[in-house]
Amino acid sequence: MSRLPTCLNPLECSQQALKWIMNDVLSDEDAQTLNQETLNSFREYVNPGFLEYRKSVTSGGGYGAVEWRASGPNTLLDTQGNEYLDCLGGYGIFNVGHRNPTVVAAVEKQLAKQPLHSQELLDPLRGMLAKTLAAITPGNLKYSFLSNSGTEAVEAALKLAKAYQGPKGKFSFIAAHGAFHGKSLGSLSATAKPIFRKPFMPLLPGFHHVPFGDIDAMRKQIHQCQSNGEGIAAVILEPIQGEGGVILPPDQYLPAVRALCDEIGALLILDEVQTGMGRTGKMFACQHYGVQPDILCLAKALGGGVMPIGATVATEAVFSVLFDNPFLHTTTFGGNPLACAAALATINVLLRDNLPEQAAQQGSFLLSGLKRLAVRYPELVAEVRGRGLLQAIEFKKNEIGYAFASELFQRRVLVAGTLNNAKSIRIEPPLTITHEQCCHVLLEAERALEKLWKTQRAEVKPEFIDEELSIQ
Ligand SMILES: Cc1ncc(COP(=O)(O)O)c(C=O)c1O
Repeated sequence: MSRLPTCLNPLECSQQALKWIMNDVLSDEDAQTLNQETLNSFREYVNPGFLEYRKSVTSGGGYGAVEWRASGPNTLLDTQGNEYLDCLGGYGIFNVGHRNPTVVAAVEKQLAKQPLHSQELLDPLRGMLAKTLAAITPGNLKYSFLSNSGTEAVEAALKLAKAYQGPKGKFSFIAAHGAFHGKSLGSLSATAKPIFRKPFMPLLPGFHHVPFGDIDAMRKQIHQCQSNGEGIAAVILEPIQGEGGVILPPDQYLPAVRALCDEIGALLILDEVQTGMGRTGKMFACQHYGVQPDILCLAKALGGGVMPIGATVATEAVFSVLFDNPFLHTTTFGGNPLACAAALATINVLLRDNLPEQAAQQGSFLLSGLKRLAVRYPELVAEVRGRGLLQAIEFKKNEIGYAFASELFQRRVLVAGTLNNAKSIRIEPPLTITHEQCCHVLLEAERALEKLWKTQRAEVKPEFIDEELSIQ
């Protein structure tokens, strides 16, 4: 492959891209060209803003690590041949590891048969997936609406709640501060971060946010709404807030929310887009708390890190609002055969290999190691928390968190911040991470913290000396 200028006509450009797709290996020259091309395309055609946020892009906008391939279940390679231990898991999509062979084989076989559905004949995999989801989800969750992403799974949940509760005169929703439910207009109304919401105001009416984990505050807000004649259609929560910085509620919170919903006739929507599929040490995080929602939202890892898919699973009573007219809420690609093949294979692997239990075991080892480090570096780390393999290190300042993530990046361990909490760095590896790899993460985290601590100490030394002198 020759070095090419970035300005190509569309035929040449697509041809070049196809060559790279078809190639298994890259020469040094190809790697350089691909890097250059990728940086330029991001700058000129994707969004130059993204280059600001990549730890691999140098200040002059030069070298950036460009993704090439998965090199193992828990590692990936860049175009320069650097291997990264993935502790980010694509923001929680690689629960069964990268390119899990069972998932890849299922998708490849289905690809050869019928990738997308006719829309008229009944597609068998959609039926099998819905049945399997009914079997693994808690309580009497039964019918599934299939879509392509987390935000779509939440949109469907909000619409189901509206259609079910509207005739009863209930139109409002309670969500939580710090919540992240997606960025399309409906789900964004439930998402809590002001900078994501402000440019798109006004959002859907009737959304009220309350502090997460505080049942009294929720009860108070609900009473306030009711006293104004505003009925509550549903409460929407993540059982453990992911993008909010991995925030665990008190143990009694979710059962109390369930009881409150039952008391006032509101539905409980649990958004397990990030916590589902074994991530927290059980198949679904609500199972830690013995709580069954009326509507459950899934996506991310459901597609096994191979295909995008979302699912909104509801009880028969709630879902029946779509029985008379199933076209009331549809999407062309939702529940397509490739995505269903990936999801069925993913569930098979999670159950067969007991990955939720693995997440619990490796998670508790990693978490206790990180907690020990937090005790050793109290000037840097405010708290370490998590459940299973959804963990966060909260730093004293945003800049320390970013410096820590950059330091780990240099050490080829991939971590990143959370969308709603800049002080927290998430650790969210595939559930297939090994004990040895967890030890490696702890070692590199320790080295990174030590380096940051030394740098910080060097920077603040004059103040220390002043302080000591003034005490004397
Ligand atoms: C809990 C939760 N809900 C919804 C979403 C949105 O999912 P997507 O990015 O696939 O739209 C996310 C994404 O991070 C999430 O963490």
